[in-house]
Amino acid sequence: MREQLYEGKAKRIYRTDDEHVVLVEYKDSATAFNGEKKAEITGKGRLNNEITSLLFLMLKEKGIESHFIKRISETEQLVKKVKIIPLEVVVRNVTAGTLAKRLGIEEGRELSTPIVEFYFKNDELGDPLFTVDHILEMKLASSEELNTLRQKGLEINQVLTSYFSELGIRLIDFKLEFGKDETGAILLADEISPDTCRLWDSVTNEKLDKDIFRRDLGSLTEGYETILKRLGGHQNV
Ligand code: C5P
Repeated sequence: MREQLYEGKAKRIYRTDDEHVVLVEYKDSATAFNGEKKAEITGKGRLNNEITSLLFLMLKEKGIESHFIKRISETEQLVKKVKIIPLEVVVRNVTAGTLAKRLGIEEGRELSTPIVEFYFKNDELGDPLFTVDHILEMKLASSEELNTLRQKGLEINQVLTSYFSELGIRLIDFKLEFGKDETGAILLADEISPDTCRLWDSVTNEKLDKDIFRRDLGSLTEGYETILKRLGGHQNV
């Protein structure tokens, strides 16, 4: 029996024989609004596992390291064990979601420059937006680490935006998580998938991400399949 180390809303983490490596299993569960809306969607785990794997491999080719080691089955991947920094780093290129609400601007307006936001990963508080001073007060990261997170977020945004754009996809916004390895180095972690990004078709602006589920816009797996196909996916493991 594998020893489970952690279960989140969309993934389970298991111990492996190597103390520096953990196994991530992507679940078929979909949740939104801090777990208030829930569903089981067959195929979602497989789609996000493959999409995340392809994106982490592409980022590595562009010189951006992550915790990703390799995909080992339809729903599982091996990753380096890191200690997750309890911050969600959100990068935005176009108004949508909570930014559109916060600023009182309609969705779909290009921002003059990308916006980076930090949210405190805390279910009880509902993952609130944190300012730099909040983060320093709570000792969640140092100001040097925050600069690193911001720079990495912006760099990853550049690479992802141009990559998706070649595939006819607009990267509206996305969320990243980072962790520290045993040397204290900050590494990109968690996942990059249509669960964590807003992705719109470049021509039609059709939503191909979790907003399909959040807003009941149709078939989530059809949207995610479109993303996987454009990334050149459906590879056997
Ligand atoms: O909801 P909001 O507009 O703040 O989300 C911004 C981006 O961060 C979206 O792409 C969303 O999918 C992602 N996000 C996430 N996990 C959260 C909150 C937001 O992946 N807990």
